[in-house]
Amino acid sequence: MDKISTAAACIRGLSFDGDKGKILSFFTETPDAADALKLPALPDSEAEIIDLIKKEWKGQSVVSLNEGGCLVLASSWDDVQALAAGKTAAGTEFAGASAVPAVCDKVALVTGGAQGFGEGMVRELAAAGAYVYIADMNVAGAEKLAAALNEELGSTRAFALQVNVTDEASVEAMMDAVARTTGGLDIFVSNAGVLKAGSVKEMTLKDFQFVTDVDYTGFFICTKFASRLMALQNAPTGKYFSDIIGISSKSGLEGSNKNGAYAGAKFGSIGLTQSFALELVTDNIKVNSICPGNFLDGPLWSDPDRGLFVQYLNTGKVPGAKTIADVRKFYEDKVPMKRGCETGDVVKAIYYIVDQKYETGQAIPVTGGQVMLN
Ligand SMILES: NC(=O)c1ccc[n+]([C@@H]2O[C@H](COP(=O)([O-])OP(=O)(O)OC[C@H]3O[C@@H](n4cnc5c(N)ncnc54)[C@H](O)[C@@H]3O)[C@@H](O)[C@H]2O)c1
Repeated sequence: MDKISTAAACIRGLSFDGDKGKILSFFTETPDAADALKLPALPDSEAEIIDLIKKEWKGQSVVSLNEGGCLVLASSWDDVQALAAGKTAAGTEFAGASAVPAVCDKVALVTGGAQGFGEGMVRELAAAGAYVYIADMNVAGAEKLAAALNEELGSTRAFALQVNVTDEASVEAMMDAVARTTGGLDIFVSNAGVLKAGSVKEMTLKDFQFVTDVDYTGFFICTKFASRLMALQNAPTGKYFSDIIGISSKSGLEGSNKNGAYAGAKFGSIGLTQSFALELVTDNIKVNSICPGNFLDGPLWSDPDRGLFVQYLNTGKVPGAKTIADVRKFYEDKVPMKRGCETGDVVKAIYYIVDQKYETGQAIPVTGGQVMLN
């Protein structure tokens, strides 16, 4: 994390109101502001930057940096933009009718947010009043979704970011961009995932590693860089809770026939969740996983050309199935609640995790009863 990102995260951390910090952005031009703080040169080490900020920052909304540019903070993104343009902050509040207190005005990031479960989470979190980064390899899809949501909501709530979660440099650059855009992060959802099914006797090592890289190693890389930013936010007060949430699967709780690469990676991600939770509790970062059941309406299953319904129909995996509807019914019948998992079900688990301040290291099933904890 570079010095400016470090300073941004510390100031956001100090602006913590018991629930969340302010929104804070870096600008190259410094606006005229009567109460602007002029910081001396930022020292080299993180510990020294934290000490300097704690000593100097007394709630000013404009912090001019010796390195060039400034940091501007306010209660909302729109107010930050107004102050940066030399105007007065209007005290803008979230206007949506469906604000959810657990996430409203908090900053969330969803990897793989451009489609599928991720897109649904992004839509629901933004409608609930969160600022949401849509971080995806498919940056065109992320940008399109961000533009549509900002239009719908009438203010900027969604930001698109390009990332490859298997690439350390890409994830590190993403977290620097987050620090300079909103000053920090409250909720990191590690959702990007891929699935390639196949028999253990036939699967190539390349395919096995492709799945493992995204679904297992990607969670490690994301947690590595997200936790650094979140720890910095917490450092000045020692009271700033934040959340890292892995999207595992019901296949992370129970083996999956001819799908070992995926199930192995998802089981492994729960081991990482428990281990990271033990370490990061000292930074007030909770780490939990959600284990959804099959998202039968999502593209993975329902894509008319490459979806699992079509594949399973064509390969005869479901005995006696003659149509896509037959294949779908077969999978719905495996669920005691007789339906697939929906994004709204997963988002409710996110709200629970964020709201619950006395739990970490858990893997929460959201499977309609299909897979139960032992
Ligand atoms: N679909 C299901 O039935 C189901 C069930 C349980 C769990 N899950 C899990 O939910 C998550 C989302 O699944 P989905 O079905 O919505 O997937 P999806 O294929 O519809 O979407 C995945 C998204 O991740 C992005 N992505 C893929 N690799 C990436 C990478 N290396 N870096 C950044 N972005 C990347 C893709 O561009 C895409 O936008 C996955 O972790 C998956 O394992 C899915």
